[in-house]
Amino acid sequence: SPLRRAYHEKVIDHYERPRNVGSMLKTDPNVGTGLVGAPACGDVMKLQILVDETTGEIREVKFKTFGCGSAIASSSLATEKIKGLKVWDAAKIKNTEIARELSLPPVKLHCSMLAEDAIKSAVKDWEQKRAARGLKPLAA
Ligand code: FES
Ligand code: FES
Repeated sequence: SPLRRAYHEKVIDHYERPRNVGSMLKTDPNVGTGLVGAPACGDVMKLQILVDETTGEIREVKFKTFGCGSAIASSSLATEKIKGLKVWDAAKIKNTEIARELSLPPVKLHCSMLAEDAIKSAVKDWEQKRAARGLKPLAA
């Protein structure tokens, strides 16, 4: 298919069998939700993390992406990469890392940027909810 010719097989794999698709309860105090859009194309990605409030470890990750194959593959890979990480380590993940692992062409770099932004936004949301509950930030 044209899709197979145009994309690296790792993208196809994540696109055809996306990992961790779904959503978690936004109102759960330990769930951080990141919702971001790509100005270049209008695609949207939602990524959620369930964090252990004592250790800062990401226990569960879910995503929903309305976008191109590269964006779906990037978010699927991102969920695998951050599951089990501490939130502060997850927030350091760069889109270039994701793009490299998926062998994305330069024109598709912004698709992986969506994943980096979504992770950062989910972590920020979790931190804000935590602060709103009067809990101290966890130290890295
Ligand atoms: Fe069409 Fe991203 S530009 S899905
Ligand atoms: Fe816009 Fe992929 S083309 S996210």
